[in-house]
Amino acid sequence: MKPVAVAIENVALHFGTTQVLRDINLKVEPGEFFALLGPSGSGKSTLLRLIAGFNRNQAGRVLIDGRDVSAVPPWQRNVGMVFQNYALWPHMTVAQNIAFGLEERRLPTADIKRRVAAVMELVELNGLEQRRPGQLSGGQQQRVAIARTLAIEPQLLLLDEPLSNLDAKLRLQTRQELKKLQRRLNITTLFVTHDQEEALTTCDRIAVLDQGVIQQVGTPLALFDHPQNRFVSQFIGSTNLFAGQFLAGDTGPSFASPALGLLALPSVLVAPSEPSEMAFRPHAVRLCSAEQPALAGHLQLSGVVHHQEFLGAFLRYEVRVGSALVLADQAHVRGQPSLPLGTAVSLLIPATEIRFMRL
Ligand SMILES: Nc1ncnc2c1ncn2[C@@H]1O[C@H](COP(=O)(O)OP(=O)(O)OP(=O)(O)O)[C@@H](O)[C@H]1O
Ligand SMILES: [Mg+2]
Repeated sequence: MKPVAVAIENVALHFGTTQVLRDINLKVEPGEFFALLGPSGSGKSTLLRLIAGFNRNQAGRVLIDGRDVSAVPPWQRNVGMVFQNYALWPHMTVAQNIAFGLEERRLPTADIKRRVAAVMELVELNGLEQRRPGQLSGGQQQRVAIARTLAIEPQLLLLDEPLSNLDAKLRLQTRQELKKLQRRLNITTLFVTHDQEEALTTCDRIAVLDQGVIQQVGTPLALFDHPQNRFVSQFIGSTNLFAGQFLAGDTGPSFASPALGLLALPSVLVAPSEPSEMAFRPHAVRLCSAEQPALAGHLQLSGVVHHQEFLGAFLRYEVRVGSALVLADQAHVRGQPSLPLGTAVSLLIPATEIRFMRL
């Protein structure tokens, strides 16, 4: 089956007086694995349900394979949706659960048998046909939910937080399996998650949603390296952000920050066109001894270690600089002790890692 494109044009939706989606515009390419990422209540499920046909938009249109489906009921959309809680029938066996949608569509019995066997094989559930959902692990239940959806041979797969009920290890394994399955089937897939790591690792592109508004759309790398606003820079990874004013002086640029003080900036940095905050990622900061001489092309700050967390691969330090706390992630080297609290340090940030984020 040829994968389909999805287009969402100027879509708005409200429940009573609550505006939940505002002027949503999105294009999902055929075969793409696309994430809707945002905090709780940002409108992810509402948007997914709208594409499936369970919610109606009051403005704009939804196109699947170029066809406006706004007036098409869910069962005629050829869209498969996997719900967060899987919604399996507890009293039915795995095979019966998978066959359910096909029986509703009144397919001949032989076809139903064939399709159930095919999707069971596809998601590697062979041998579990006669079990009931209560006799399966979380990951197996999730595969039954996906198999049930794939059995109707949808053109479009919608997954609402499908991994959130699994433990950390199973979640990791299942997301890799899901990605492989999606590639193999080459089926356009929209994946809802509030977990940035899940979206970054699994999906081709991501739309970041906040308060019913799309904040940015891009590949995982583009969103991480070029966040367009404060929200995206903090939701995808962590960011140090400082309010202040960029000053272009004769002796080079500087930044007047109420929290950090007056800082000499690397000369290559140019003034932002709009009022902005200075931003840099914690992993871009290098901690050095307090006697570290100035290094060309770097911003240098002086501070005192205030707090530290060991995260295995790296240590996250909070360093007090002026009245601010700056996050600095340092790779952990086996056997090397962490810096004691109260240590005076220099922080070096290369100019290439410094951004000015519009407010
Ligand atoms: N049927 C409804 N009637 C009224 N308000 C609703 C309805 N469904 C959702 N909402 C509201 O719409 C907003 C978005 O809800 P939605 O379920 O889309 O969020 P979400 O991004 O999926 O969040 P979560 O990560 O918690 O699942 C919320 O403020 C929610 O309370
Ligand atoms: Mg939701």
